[in-house]
Amino acid sequence: MDLKLNGKVAIITGGGAGIGAAMCETFAEEGVNLIIADFRPIEQTEAYAKELANKYGVETMGVKVDVSNPDDVCALYEAALKKFGTVDILMNNAGKMGLNRIEDVTINELRKFEAVNIEGLFLMSQGLIKIHREQKKKKSWIVNTISKSAFTTNSGGNSPYIATKGAAASFTRGLASEVGREGIYVNGIIPGYVKTETTKSIPNAKERSEAMTKIIPVGREAEPKEIADVAVFLCSEKACQVMGALVDVTGGTML
Ligand SMILES: NC(=O)c1ccc[n+]([C@@H]2O[C@H](COP(=O)([O-])OP(=O)(O)OC[C@H]3O[C@@H](n4cnc5c(N)ncnc54)[C@H](O)[C@@H]3O)[C@@H](O)[C@H]2O)c1
Repeated sequence: MDLKLNGKVAIITGGGAGIGAAMCETFAEEGVNLIIADFRPIEQTEAYAKELANKYGVETMGVKVDVSNPDDVCALYEAALKKFGTVDILMNNAGKMGLNRIEDVTINELRKFEAVNIEGLFLMSQGLIKIHREQKKKKSWIVNTISKSAFTTNSGGNSPYIATKGAAASFTRGLASEVGREGIYVNGIIPGYVKTETTKSIPNAKERSEAMTKIIPVGREAEPKEIADVAVFLCSEKACQVMGALVDVTGGTML
């Protein structure tokens, strides 16, 4: 299936690892030029950008950015416009995860979740919408990475994450309704249990993985690439009737 994405320009936040890194590779396979935005050490992000450029023949750049910092976001869009002249696609994928018992949640810790998982989405989306309007583009795409925790959870102790991912889901629908008529597609994807370096390194990861396997209808945790495939599809003409959707990619976990 030709997704007709060749030559487009995408920003992927949190593109240096996990689901975001898989999104970068999937876009690169489709001929999309990449701005990999991550707050890891810039050498790591640039090395990954070069690797994908060499492998797939696309143009790439790595940028060090904290999506919750307005100055970083401004600088990111300036750099993107300088190199590529436009941005067509934004994957709002960077997220702050973590387990926090309610009695341990300080206001500062709560604000860190809000900053990355809510403010980051606002700031990054404003940047793309500004380009869409100034350049009078016909279509642009935003995909937000939500989480199944926003809808159903059994972890018993991550209310800041759940609350902010719930806000991200509502933001997705609200923004689609606000800017959809301008040709800006805003959708969300809902991963469930995904095998990344981060989830593999949590305490009791093996036991957790075995327990998950029993409750996931497809019988196993997802690979990052399996989430990326759906996210990339949402940015194609083939998904032109999908607007404001929150697409369940949990392998049936939410059933
Ligand atoms: N892994 C899962 O099981 C799972 C499940 C549901 C939802 N999600 C969501 O998917 C998204 C990606 O998660 P992942 O598992 O791939 O994570 P990950 O930890 O493997 O990678 C996240 C990347 O984002 C970067 N990042 C984090 N905060 C940032 C910030 N403020 N600014 C810029 N970059 C930042 C990190 O440096 C890292 O490279 C997150 O939004 C997460 O909440 C993950």
